Amino acid sequence: MERTLAIIKPDAFAAGHAGHILARIYEEDFQVVGLKKLHLSEQQAAGFYHVHADKPFFDDLKGFMSSGPCIVMVLEAEAAIRRWRDLMGATNPTTAPAGTLRNQFGTSLGRNAVHGSDAPETALFEVGYFFSGMELL
Ligand code: CMP
Repeated sequence: MERTLAIIKPDAFAAGHAGHILARIYEEDFQVVGLKKLHLSEQQAAGFYHVHADKPFFDDLKGFMSSGPCIVMVLEAEAAIRRWRDLMGATNPTTAPAGTLRNQFGTSLGRNAVHGSDAPETALFEVGYFFSGMELL
């Protein structure tokens, strides 16, 4: 079993898509082993996305991610990282395949509805950023 960090971002949460996204997660047989609703500060968003600190879109990214509530989750499944990324679709909603969450709920590259860890080391950092061991059931 593998774990990955998933986020329902502020755009999708504000638009009322959280229930639908959670339903898809359960339909696809992920176990939700941790879940929190958070409103990140800019500093917390910047820490989470620290690998992008030198990118031109970093200010927009941290501003957007701290613009309203989001839902952070730890999903567990066989090959959870790849399977969640497949369910999300490509980063840019315009190139994400039909039926993927970003195609369905994303509206731009920056406002792409959901996040997922991209590798096992990243998942370890991202899960630990939001959850302690005793919060994962
Ligand atoms: P995510 O998978 O959460 O990881 C980093 C995020 O940065 C990515 O989704 C996009 O939403 C965002 N991002 C990547 N490239 C750009 C860009 N060129 N302009 C704005 N946001 C971007």
